[in-house]
Amino acid sequence: MPRISGDTFDRILARRFSRRSFLKGSLAAAPLLVFRPGSLAEAIGLGPGNGAGAAPGVRAGNGVRAGFTPISRGKTDTVTVPEGYEWHVVVRWGDPIHADSPPFDFRTQTIESQSAQFGYNCDFTAVFPVEGRSDRLLLCVNHEFTNPPIMFPDHLEGFATFDQVGVELAAHGISIVEIRRQADGSWAPDVNSPYNRRCTMFTPMTFTGAAAGHAWLRTGDDPEGTRVLGTLNNCAGGKTPWNTYLTCEENFHKYFGKLEDLPADDPRRSVHEGYGVRKKRTYRQWEDHYPRFRVPDEPNEPFRFGWVVEIDPFDEEFVPRKHTALGRMKHEGATPCLTKDGRVAVYMGDDEVFQHVYKFVSDGTWKSGDRETNRTLFESGTLYTARFDENGKGEWLPIVFGQGPLTSANGFESQGDVLIDTRRAARLLGATKMDRPEDIAVSPRTGYAYVALTNNTDREEPNAANPRVENRHGHVIELRPEDGDHADRSFAWDILLMAGDPEDDEDGARYGDCPPGSVSPISCPDNLLFDRDGGLWICTDGQSYALGLDDGISTVALEGPGRGLVRPFACIPSTAECTGPEFSPDETSLFLAVQHPGEGGSLDRPLSSFPDGSQPPRPTVISIRKKDGGTIGT
Ligand code: FEO
Ligand code: CA
Ligand code: CA
Repeated sequence: MPRISGDTFDRILARRFSRRSFLKGSLAAAPLLVFRPGSLAEAIGLGPGNGAGAAPGVRAGNGVRAGFTPISRGKTDTVTVPEGYEWHVVVRWGDPIHADSPPFDFRTQTIESQSAQFGYNCDFTAVFPVEGRSDRLLLCVNHEFTNPPIMFPDHLEGFATFDQVGVELAAHGISIVEIRRQADGSWAPDVNSPYNRRCTMFTPMTFTGAAAGHAWLRTGDDPEGTRVLGTLNNCAGGKTPWNTYLTCEENFHKYFGKLEDLPADDPRRSVHEGYGVRKKRTYRQWEDHYPRFRVPDEPNEPFRFGWVVEIDPFDEEFVPRKHTALGRMKHEGATPCLTKDGRVAVYMGDDEVFQHVYKFVSDGTWKSGDRETNRTLFESGTLYTARFDENGKGEWLPIVFGQGPLTSANGFESQGDVLIDTRRAARLLGATKMDRPEDIAVSPRTGYAYVALTNNTDREEPNAANPRVENRHGHVIELRPEDGDHADRSFAWDILLMAGDPEDDEDGARYGDCPPGSVSPISCPDNLLFDRDGGLWICTDGQSYALGLDDGISTVALEGPGRGLVRPFACIPSTAECTGPEFSPDETSLFLAVQHPGEGGSLDRPLSSFPDGSQPPRPTVISIRKKDGGTIGT
């Protein structure tokens, strides 16, 4: 089968890019333009020697920051930043977060030491100003998963020990660490801050919403179905307007094993299968040491993961809440924004091939300064899933028990039933099957939402919004609420870019209307971030395999001539994934999480020595700054 589905791909793509076709005309009228890398950038005012590039602080007319020279990319074991920029380590796996935390020694890690240190594989990051200051920030970080072969000196594949598993349980979860800006512009943890704490797989959390207390959420340790220990595989997240932290449980299925020992006629079995819970042993073998991860022993435990969790970084008394109203899936992120009438909408993706895009809209409205009320807004509301139609329109379909197919005829007896098996409900409603929905970001300038679809090499049947078969590079969709309100039930959409190399015919790549030779290709878009000017930044995950270029972060123009133009800003070690982009409030620092450096190697055959030039490699949050202290990207 060809990689590109000829007619369908061309037809759909032509239509979805057609709105921007004026660029072709304008370029045709500019005969002096020679298309080579960088020339389009210069022609439209994004490059050195043409206004924005030459004059720091001057922005190009289309919202994208272009006051930096794009980096050259390849394969390295370090961080590359543009000329005039520098990077620093902020905090890395094992760094103490309290004054009395044990120093990091990977040979002697215990549950206790790891619980007092920064966790493993940092992903989403969010910063919150402390006491309104720009030089003191609460840094909240997800620790998505662990890499035992490069964590433990005595690691033996297939033979995880009780002590190792304990360290892994404590290396998952969240870190909350106050960081302070140093005299040289770098950032360092303040180990004396009273805000510093960890959430691990041993931290008590509660459930809210219609599924809280559901029979399928009850276990031997929690007969009420309202409390759970820990949060698992936290990938991306979000920040609420009331300064709480949303952290999203993604690939929770990988931690629960022996599903095949659950009787075939147990109705829970097919639900677990729908989420990929492991039939046999898991890679990590936590189930060998903790019965809660052994499905036949505790068949409901997997239902207690796959949620969006709200944490108040400023209030330790606030028990983290798993909000079931936002649905159960392999949540990538959760991006809140306000509707015109002050309710809270949250955009979300379910990161697996052929899964869906979602939106939640709260019942209640946000009230400035009323933290107590605001923290309840995710307890009730309406969850929707997206159907992308071929005509460039789309609908948000309500996932509400009793409506349409969500009735007892399909095995649903309550809204709790629907939320626990959100995926099946969305499928029954006719949601569009997407190419792994990752992050969704909303432009502060236009209110448009951008959806990263990272890749889907399993796709054989294209649809309008996923027009490429064997989509190994992914794409980005622009979604425009019909009346400019995030409460709208209708939207319009376009494809911003089809990632890959536009000069490689096999890839079928396209970046807005940019000529093939003018763009720097990217692949596997994952995390998205907007700067306050409305410029979009895209992180990649998997580009080093798909394109032979280290993963990194790039700006992408959204408006005007040059829409779709990519400018690489930074890249990270070849074996790592670039995640967690976040600006300091003054946007003079860009934080990135360097996740899983050295993955695929071992301590004997290391693939990375990031960041300290020694073993083991350590997942690290870094900061990037302009040497003159200016705004990033200007
Ligand atoms: Fe953990 Fe969807 O990336
Ligand atoms: Ca991700
Ligand atoms: Ca990813």
